[in-house]
Amino acid sequence: MWVENAWYAASFLKDIGDHPKSVTLLGRPLVVFRTETGKLAVLDDRCPHRSVPLSFGRRTGEHLRCSYHGLQVDAEGNCVRIPCQDRIPANARVRAYPVAERHSLAWVWMGDCAFANADEVPDFHYLDDPEWTACTGYHFINADYRLLNDNLLDLSHESYVHDTTIGNDAVAEAPVKVERTETQIRVHRDIWNCEPPPFYVKATGFNERINRWHTTIFTVPSTHVIENGSYPASSSRSHALERRVLHAISPATPTSSHYFWGVARQYRPDDHELTEYIRLQTAETFDQDKQILELQQKALERTGDGAFSLALATDKGPVQARHAIERMIAREKELRCGVNREKLAQ
Ligand code: FES
Repeated sequence: MWVENAWYAASFLKDIGDHPKSVTLLGRPLVVFRTETGKLAVLDDRCPHRSVPLSFGRRTGEHLRCSYHGLQVDAEGNCVRIPCQDRIPANARVRAYPVAERHSLAWVWMGDCAFANADEVPDFHYLDDPEWTACTGYHFINADYRLLNDNLLDLSHESYVHDTTIGNDAVAEAPVKVERTETQIRVHRDIWNCEPPPFYVKATGFNERINRWHTTIFTVPSTHVIENGSYPASSSRSHALERRVLHAISPATPTSSHYFWGVARQYRPDDHELTEYIRLQTAETFDQDKQILELQQKALERTGDGAFSLALATDKGPVQARHAIERMIAREKELRCGVNREKLAQ
């Protein structure tokens, strides 16, 4: 159910300190740590000796020391010290994962290292671009990552789940336009001449009827950039105030996901009160998503088949996203079979 050859967000950089941090991605327990000289490392979170989690250990200079018998590994996962003996066995190592520090996040490549290319880290530059003012947050959601994708690719739910923050009836009633490339799906919605939802009034100052739009740009397997803007319906688009809402979803287990998010704006950059308002309102909005997604996950587990019997016009984006993920997983499988066949032939 997971694409492995992809960059996944593991943590905001600001949350990686002197102590190792445990993160589960694609069902694999990992330890994230930064060496004393600043090198970021992600390793399997399991000591090669007796399997105690390395995240329970301690950083010692450039190494991570296991808290049970003191074995030390470096940022590449090689064992560099065993206190009770001089000889270091060849199998005294743990898997190290390619990492990249980009746009305020630590990204981990979970697949074949040969394909890791840091230039392909999702473009979340809005989070650290001086042209934009951003706030960020994190939710852990007990739901399959694909349900989170569905949620962001069908924003008609804003009318019902988020009617106290960003939604009202006009969102669900607006038609959507869906475009697809090999690795991206764009879902666009224009909502003309509508009442501004509560968040819009405070976040923009527009308290008359507005024109607003969203374009969700989904990149397989699970990152989304939502381009969003609004302006008074009585004026023109040149008066629009725009935001970008960034979503990096990293599957933790088959039924849980890390959800790293950020909201960036290009107006009133020094208004810290506004930044805090947007952060709190967005956190409340995603609390509402968390509640509905976890209910949905439980309902799917009860029926056991994970299938949906009814598709509506607004499901085009979610359905295409799921197909794109399936195609990518199938390609990875073919790739692995090819590599295995080559190994057998040698
Ligand atoms: Fe880590 Fe023994 S379990 S050193």
